[in-house]
Amino acid sequence: MKNLIDILDLSTEEIDQLIQTANDIIENPEKYSEKCRGKKLATLFFEPSTRTRLSFEAAMYELGGNVLGFSEAQSSSAAKGESVADTAKTISCYADIIAMRHPKEGAPLVASQKATVPVINAGDGGHNHPTQTLTDLLTIQREMHRLGNFTIGFCGDLKFGRTVHSLIAALSRYENIKVVLISPEELKLPSYVKKDILLKKGIEYRQTTDLESVMPQLDVLYMTRVQRERFFSEEEYLRLKDSYILTPEKLKNAKKELAIMHPLPRVNEISVAIDDDPRACYFKQVLNGKYIRMALILKLLEVE
Ligand code: NCD
Repeated sequence: MKNLIDILDLSTEEIDQLIQTANDIIENPEKYSEKCRGKKLATLFFEPSTRTRLSFEAAMYELGGNVLGFSEAQSSSAAKGESVADTAKTISCYADIIAMRHPKEGAPLVASQKATVPVINAGDGGHNHPTQTLTDLLTIQREMHRLGNFTIGFCGDLKFGRTVHSLIAALSRYENIKVVLISPEELKLPSYVKKDILLKKGIEYRQTTDLESVMPQLDVLYMTRVQRERFFSEEEYLRLKDSYILTPEKLKNAKKELAIMHPLPRVNEISVAIDDDPRACYFKQVLNGKYIRMALILKLLEVE
């Protein structure tokens, strides 16, 4: 496998291997500190990012490699009208591997067809975000010691939340996963994800608008931000943005071993009063994201 565009580009065995490598990096970071000496990662971010871009960069530095790139479309030739395909061909002359985030669904796929080096999708519009999914899987494995046999609730913007789409796709391959979809009517999971993943794979799922009523069933609660930048109307965003705010009060009936996850950035949807709850995993997710991206870079660059 040369590129990572969709999480299902990876087999379950490959995902297991990446998780194993990430766990080994966590245990023995010094073993990996020179693995990418002389290699360059380009981060091409046509959309804002804190964690994804900087974790890719930190990952490459911790492997002994170097990083180049841009963090907004305005500072690249896209502002002059250059196509993604031409940008990808150009960057292939400078870097050994590319991580690309773009507001248009499918842009990283187009880049991967033209680039001569591996391309990683670092988020394409409201579509997919496979490296966040690897981060989430590593977190679930480390926190719960299993990647099957649990009930996960996805709460918030399930329509535009690309991290949700990719994680549901990945989880559909594990045993006995039950999914609870918690969102306002307007932000329900797109029907293509339901049809192509949940129904096709026979995953047990239910939909609700009420978080508290399903709380006691959940082993994982995956909160998400309402994706302001994908709305057509600011009015609609303002109406829906605070649909769910997780507070200690709402966790009263939750399991003691619940894992509370969030890809971040958080706006209002998790009260800061929860940050010190031992069930809060979202800042652990941030750190895991760096390690799994180190593992992914090693794999795509075919470093032993
Ligand atoms: C997510 C994204 O970009 O889709 N952030 C991230 O990469 N950790 C979630 C979000 O922006 O809400």
